[in-house]
Amino acid sequence: MIDFKDEIAKKLKKVTNIEEIESYIEIPSNKEMGDYSLPCFKLAKELRKAPQMIANELKEKITLDENIISKVEVVNGYLNFYINPIAVIKTVFEEINDKKEQYGSSEIGKGKNIVVEYSSPNIAKPFHIGHLRTTLIGSALYKIYKYLGYNTIGVNHLGDYGTQFGKMIEAYKMWGNEYDLTVDPINKMVDMYVRINDLCKKDETVLEKCRENFRLLEAGDKYCTDLWNKFKDLSMQEFNKIYNILDVKFDSYNGEAFYADKMDYIIKTLESKGVVTESEGAKIVDLSDMGISTPCIIQKTNGSSIYATRDLAAIVYRAKTYDFDKCLYVVAYEQNLHFKQVFAVAKYLVDEKYINGLKHVAFGMVSLPSGKMSTRLGNVVKIEDLLNKTIEEAKEIIEEKNPDLEDKDEVAKKVGIGAIVFNTLSTSNIKDQVFDWNTALNFNGETGPYLQYMYVRTNSVLEKVGKIPDLKDVDVNVLSDDASVKLVKELYDFNNIIMQSADKNEPYIITKYLVNVAKLFSTFYNENKIITDDKNLQNARAYLTYCVNIVLKSGAKLLGIQMPNKM
Ligand code: ARG
Repeated sequence: MIDFKDEIAKKLKKVTNIEEIESYIEIPSNKEMGDYSLPCFKLAKELRKAPQMIANELKEKITLDENIISKVEVVNGYLNFYINPIAVIKTVFEEINDKKEQYGSSEIGKGKNIVVEYSSPNIAKPFHIGHLRTTLIGSALYKIYKYLGYNTIGVNHLGDYGTQFGKMIEAYKMWGNEYDLTVDPINKMVDMYVRINDLCKKDETVLEKCRENFRLLEAGDKYCTDLWNKFKDLSMQEFNKIYNILDVKFDSYNGEAFYADKMDYIIKTLESKGVVTESEGAKIVDLSDMGISTPCIIQKTNGSSIYATRDLAAIVYRAKTYDFDKCLYVVAYEQNLHFKQVFAVAKYLVDEKYINGLKHVAFGMVSLPSGKMSTRLGNVVKIEDLLNKTIEEAKEIIEEKNPDLEDKDEVAKKVGIGAIVFNTLSTSNIKDQVFDWNTALNFNGETGPYLQYMYVRTNSVLEKVGKIPDLKDVDVNVLSDDASVKLVKELYDFNNIIMQSADKNEPYIITKYLVNVAKLFSTFYNENKIITDDKNLQNARAYLTYCVNIVLKSGAKLLGIQMPNKM
């Protein structure tokens, strides 16, 4: 595909001799100001001339190839470039003809390893709506990086370790026979946990027993380990139901427990570097030198290990095992301090190149319209219920709008899940969100179902046409109307959008883009008759529709939204 920015940069380099000129070129937000623009005030200092003058001189010097750049204009110190629309259409059509459903993908990440850590729920605790967000953002990033050619490793860093398991074991010993864990196990485990916590507060001897259980668990005691495994299996069964519905996958489930035997090394290494101090019996690493006022605790007073130490062990392990270029942690912003501390301490444990690759991809809170949820208060919505309820609602809408549709259940599943995924990935990560069914399932707003609906429309157009035309039978010159050109220019940007989304670790950039594509298609569709007696025109418009079909489908797939063929 022609890289127009690069073409312009080459021409500018010739006349300016400025190597990094490409990095100065911008894409104006207002297309009236050209497709690309060079703000000349950036050069004014270097060249000691007024921007307007520089722009005028460059315009004179540059030689144009009208097949590519149709016009150059000077406006207020900006040099604006207009790409020949026919060149854009040609290159987009050729590229899509070539790559089909791989359009927008690239090899830019070849040879680079990226660990994406996401979901990471806690065993014996509910999978809450915040976990839904890390799961969907992480899974999208996983797919996005893969599409760009990176070797991507998806890790579910399960919260399957810690002193709370000592409590769970004690609770099970005391009340295990009161609970039937074959039905709704997580809520029952939560109930047990709340009960034992209350008891521990009242009775110090119970607390002591819990601590002892955890020590036994760490030492590999059979009874404790078996119980722990039981809690883990029961939880995983529930989590897997959610992963299956969402079609989310991982390459590794190495959670906190996996690092149990790797923490000694961390503490010893840090001690040997002389950075560990004692504070009230606990081992800590002071980070005030690095501008972090709260020290990182690496071992508790009672000698048991801690969340942060397991994260440090994970960094060392991942560096060794995956030799990562980047290691992303898709975790709520509430853990900002934790990751700051861990990344700072990691400087004593791994090479600088790994430190530079560590990145906390923080995201905001999610609430339901009825207010914040809290595990403690028990007003949690089970995610599985939320997913199923949304699928049911989608089914009702379909039943009403298109009762004769085939595979209604399959379609309802795609629409329901699509609504949730879209909603979750429709704002930048850091924004807090309210999850509301009515907004998510609205077919007309900026929603998952809207994208799917436009996709289905491209399908029905293509069905009416009968066969996707051969590119050699397509005359791109007939697509010169405004709506067609705008649409194709948007399609041209697909790869760039994916790169931006990876660069910022923000899937919503793709979500927003797809909405734009759908809207521009809608305008194109309303303004142009696709099925017409003029076969030349029909071929070209049908081919453009096919391109939209590909982009919508491939883009949605990156986000984790599946497109129904009909709805
Ligand atoms: N299990 C934690 C939670 O549910 C999230 C783990 C985040 N990842 C990490 N490497 N610390 O809150």
